[in-house]
Amino acid sequence: MREAVTARGPGRVNLIGEHTDYNDGLALPFAIDRGVTVTAEPLGGDRIEARAVDLGEEDAFALDDDTAGQGWRAFVRGTVTELREAGHEVHPCRLTIEGDLPHGSGLSSSAALEAALCLALLEDPDVDRVELARLCSRVENDRVGAHTGLLDQLAVLCAEDGSALRIDFRDLAMTSVPLELGGWTLVTLDSGAAHEHAEGGYNERRAECAAACEALGIESLREATSADGLPTPLDRRVRHVLTENARVDAMAGALAAGDLEAAGALLTASHASLRDDYEASVPEVERAVEALMSAGAAGARMVGGGFGGSVLGLLGPGLAPPAGATAVAPGPPARRL
Ligand code: GLA
Repeated sequence: MREAVTARGPGRVNLIGEHTDYNDGLALPFAIDRGVTVTAEPLGGDRIEARAVDLGEEDAFALDDDTAGQGWRAFVRGTVTELREAGHEVHPCRLTIEGDLPHGSGLSSSAALEAALCLALLEDPDVDRVELARLCSRVENDRVGAHTGLLDQLAVLCAEDGSALRIDFRDLAMTSVPLELGGWTLVTLDSGAAHEHAEGGYNERRAECAAACEALGIESLREATSADGLPTPLDRRVRHVLTENARVDAMAGALAAGDLEAAGALLTASHASLRDDYEASVPEVERAVEALMSAGAAGARMVGGGFGGSVLGLLGPGLAPPAGATAVAPGPPARRL
């Protein structure tokens, strides 16, 4: 590395298709115009120095030190270790990390950080993006201890500006679905309840899906056709996954037809399924959904892993979003600036 490099990783909003990625299902996320920026400046010696500007915190470690850190440090250390293990050369440098995507808001600040770190640290950033998404996912799974799927990393690395990305997690086939909203707006409203993937209900839901597969004698819930006969609550978890996969294609159809009322109804149906069948809601999230619906939203739903985080709402032309809501638009994928 001879000169400073800056890279930007966007956050993501998953329009629909929640808790389907680790079940070989379907999802329809888009990269957003909020994200994390990482600048790497060359440094003598053999260390990485990192500064999280928004938190006012620092870290420093030798390049070959693979001890995990806590919080944001685990992502930085984990990304350096995974890049090196994948055979990429990482040079000593000073990393400056800043962003406009609060951690725990459910808009995937972690995938934004991983992607920005990779593109700032790689000597040649022109690498296969699916491979890079897998590498970022290993950072989450193996270094941070969050057993998340590939949704966030594929969304931030592979989405196209102005479009959502239909991902089929069975074979990782990806198709762009233009997000043409006319005078309508998508907004996010932070519920105020922070969520953490490495703990809480997320890993429990994954284990329940695995238990359902075992009971059904199948490899993944994509092969399931019905939840009949499963003990409760596994039957409800499976019902969510089956109906949510169907809603992803219904949403793509509604967008292609320009039927935004139907798109709103699908958001609300997804939320009801996540709340009642997947039991991934909390009171703060319910209040945020109510605030959006009271403002006249055509539909609203929790986004991301649930148990807190942000709620997405679709508002018709001329409607004012509730206090605290922020308009969100599809932006470019992770890139060097
Ligand atoms: C989090 C995880 C993703 C996905 C969603 C739920 O965002 O990181 O892999 O499982 O939750 O759809």
